[in-house]
Amino acid sequence: MTALDRIAELQREAEAAIAGATDPKQLEGLRLHYLGRKSELPMLLRGVGSLDPSQRVAVGSAGNQTRKQLEAMISAREAELAGGEIGERLDISLPGSPPAPTGHLHLITETRRDIEDVFLGLGFSIAEGPEVEHVEYNFDALNTDLTHPSRARTDTFYIDDATVLRVHTSPVQVRAMIAQPPPLYVIAPGRVYRPDNDATHTPQFHQIEGLAVDDGVTLADLKGTLLAFARQIFGEDREVLLRPHYFPFTEPSVEVDVSCFNCASGYLRDGSLCPLCKGSGWLEVLGAGMVDPNVFAYVKDYGYDPESVTGFAFGMGIERIAMLRHGIPDLRLYFDNDLRFLRQFGAR
Ligand code: PHE
Repeated sequence: MTALDRIAELQREAEAAIAGATDPKQLEGLRLHYLGRKSELPMLLRGVGSLDPSQRVAVGSAGNQTRKQLEAMISAREAELAGGEIGERLDISLPGSPPAPTGHLHLITETRRDIEDVFLGLGFSIAEGPEVEHVEYNFDALNTDLTHPSRARTDTFYIDDATVLRVHTSPVQVRAMIAQPPPLYVIAPGRVYRPDNDATHTPQFHQIEGLAVDDGVTLADLKGTLLAFARQIFGEDREVLLRPHYFPFTEPSVEVDVSCFNCASGYLRDGSLCPLCKGSGWLEVLGAGMVDPNVFAYVKDYGYDPESVTGFAFGMGIERIAMLRHGIPDLRLYFDNDLRFLRQFGAR
């Protein structure tokens, strides 16, 4: 066998052994066996000088190449085995442990933001006001008669004779008009308070008020605005229905229904009555109307001449909107802080 053949044979043999090595100790043994000072390949290289001159170059370079390749293979296999060994305890290529849950928005917050988005998109801006409010702004400026039942101590939380926890977000209408002349397009989201407590009433809840004042605003503008709202919040096939109603601060006043998104005209596919709209085909969602001239009269010094400006206003309960959207049966669930309930919502 020529020296060149022997080198090739050693290389094949060593390569197979290195590839098959399963632990670092075994690999170190192979290194000694094939590349150690006293092993065959290095000896052969050291003996190149005594070969026939015609063979020296070929044998020298083949031997050196094999030595380098085997060294490289051993290092690579070593790294592989080390990686595998670490891998059993700690695989640094795996994604980190999942971040601790950071929680999510409460359904009421999420719903409020959804509603705000609709009106921001229509050109309204957001106004805010205090929850502890003047009786004057909560009732008087909103044309609420002194005998109106909502003024009773049983219907409103009084701080003192002139101060209440606001019963609606409507006083923000007054504040917004005092702060800015028309044209005015605002929504006022916030907490409101009433001394009720049952499945459909909690002492504290949330409303969003809307107010648009401009030249020539009509009931048709109100209906179009609410239709856009209904379709964005409850689905694009919705219709709205305005039913006559009474509010002190609007004239005419309406209650607004949205066509039920859960059924067809009150009945489910199987012919049974729709549990959401109770068979009527309509869901009552909010109160609204054209701003009563008496409300403008209260702020006429701020640019609201009741003879020239017109406007519409509306107010809705955020809890109610979310209840309808998600089929929530009891208002108190929002505030019980039962995570089994809360976790079903607010994925964003
Ligand atoms: N403030 C009314 C309520 O709390 C809702 C409403 C607002 C109605 C604006 C008409 C116009 O019930």
